[in-house]
Amino acid sequence: LWLALGIRKRKPGEPPVENGLIPYLGCAVQFGANPLEFLRSRQNKYGHIFTCKIAGKYFHFLCDPFSYHAVIRQGRHLDWKKFHFSTSVKAFGHDSMDPRHGYTTENLHQTFMKTLQGEALPSLIETMMENLQSVMLQSDTISPSQDRWDVDGIFAFCYKVMFESGYLTLFGKDLGKDKNAVRQEAQKALVLNTLENFKEFDKIFPALVAGLPIHVFKSAHSARENLAKTMLAENLSKRENVSDLISLRMLLNDTLSTFNDLSKARTHVALLWASQANTLPTTFWSLLHMIRSPEAMKAANEEVKKILESSGQRVDPSKPQLTLSREDLDNMPVIDSIIKEAMRLSSASMNIRVAKEDFLLHLDNQESYRIRKDDVIALYPQMLHFDPKIYEDPLTYKYDRYLDDNGQEKTTFYREGRKLRYYYMPFGSGVTKCPGRFFAVHEIKQFLALVLSYFNMELLDSAVKVPPLDQSRAGLGILQPTYDVDFRYKLKTQ
Ligand code: HEM
Repeated sequence: LWLALGIRKRKPGEPPVENGLIPYLGCAVQFGANPLEFLRSRQNKYGHIFTCKIAGKYFHFLCDPFSYHAVIRQGRHLDWKKFHFSTSVKAFGHDSMDPRHGYTTENLHQTFMKTLQGEALPSLIETMMENLQSVMLQSDTISPSQDRWDVDGIFAFCYKVMFESGYLTLFGKDLGKDKNAVRQEAQKALVLNTLENFKEFDKIFPALVAGLPIHVFKSAHSARENLAKTMLAENLSKRENVSDLISLRMLLNDTLSTFNDLSKARTHVALLWASQANTLPTTFWSLLHMIRSPEAMKAANEEVKKILESSGQRVDPSKPQLTLSREDLDNMPVIDSIIKEAMRLSSASMNIRVAKEDFLLHLDNQESYRIRKDDVIALYPQMLHFDPKIYEDPLTYKYDRYLDDNGQEKTTFYREGRKLRYYYMPFGSGVTKCPGRFFAVHEIKQFLALVLSYFNMELLDSAVKVPPLDQSRAGLGILQPTYDVDFRYKLKTQ
């Protein structure tokens, strides 16, 4: 009977199991409604590890941060590729990028490291800085003035400025040989279209990851197809200043894969999504919390001023050519802490590995648990981020939480007197840690430094509450706000 109902009985040595009340779905509905609350209540009941059936799969949730290492260090029993590659196929519709499936021999992980980190980083940062200033001050994306305040939603503002700048940084510009006004307009229309299609597609992203077919969502489906069309090689090859990330992707698609043209284009859509989906809400939360906190604004303003003065730069909106080198950006502990704290409060990613075979998982407290082949082991770092034993008063935004007594980056955090190795994980962990994390933090620092330099900014309602997190994306990264918050901005008089 157990087998017929698809219900698992706990065997000796296995973690406690909850099959949930609904066949197949199991605990999916309760988990989906509020993952943090669900996991905390089970942790109180069962302890460090327990198993829940979610949409036909058995998830072992490991809740003890001192045992995270057992999952993060890439043991031979655990597979990270299976889940990641199949999720990408479900969401973006390209052929599998897992070399074991035979469509490509590319090592994606290496491609990402080579084109997003180390030597690739300075040119990405430099292009982003130019694009941010041109979008903020020289295009009609926004039209700030010294004489009047402009009102906008903070999310809407961050969305349009960061999307356009980030998109142009990765995918280059299509200005053709004659850089005339007509081409400029066509370029602008392409960016706007891409933004609208991205938004439409991104809305249903959680449903696709959950396994719903894209055909169910008519407008999101056509949005994804439109995005893919703009990224066919015949279109991308006309663009100038394409990043290494995308040009190497084009080359390896052509030389190492058997993908057809559309499948190749879809791999670029996947990267557009990865580069924007978390960055946009992170920028929003960082700017919102900074504007709400006068001390944060003051400290950040001083930090930016000091850096610009040290390199003899003057802020001039009519000649927006500020530069911040990688060293400058690495030397901004206040803004770094402002961003980190914003991410601590809004991140809800899930770190997942799949068991390659039956094995014993050893926890920090010397206990061991039997795990069955194909089961999922999951970490939910929001449990760390909101743990009052690690972060005092965890629901409160404190801009200097990641600063030490000397005003430098704080890296030592404790739980019940024991130093933690893992205390902050919005970018995931181990081999699946986000390869774009350095660029992501740098581009948000650039954005904040620039809005602080060029604009006066105020909340429309100075007592406005922080909007709740939209839980529909829980498990997938940085959560969006359930509604936008209005602010006003105008150019500073220098
Ligand atoms: C993967 C977070 C920005 C490129 C990931 C993952 C997370 C993450 C949680 C998945 C890790 C896992 O599955 O365990 C973030 C956050 C960002 C951000 C919070 C912004 C604040 C970026 C940017 C880029 C990027 C700007 C590129 C320009 C990628 C790629 C992957 C990835 C390519 C897939 C890696 C793989 O499957 O090997 N990111 N990310 N991310 N991210 Fe980011």
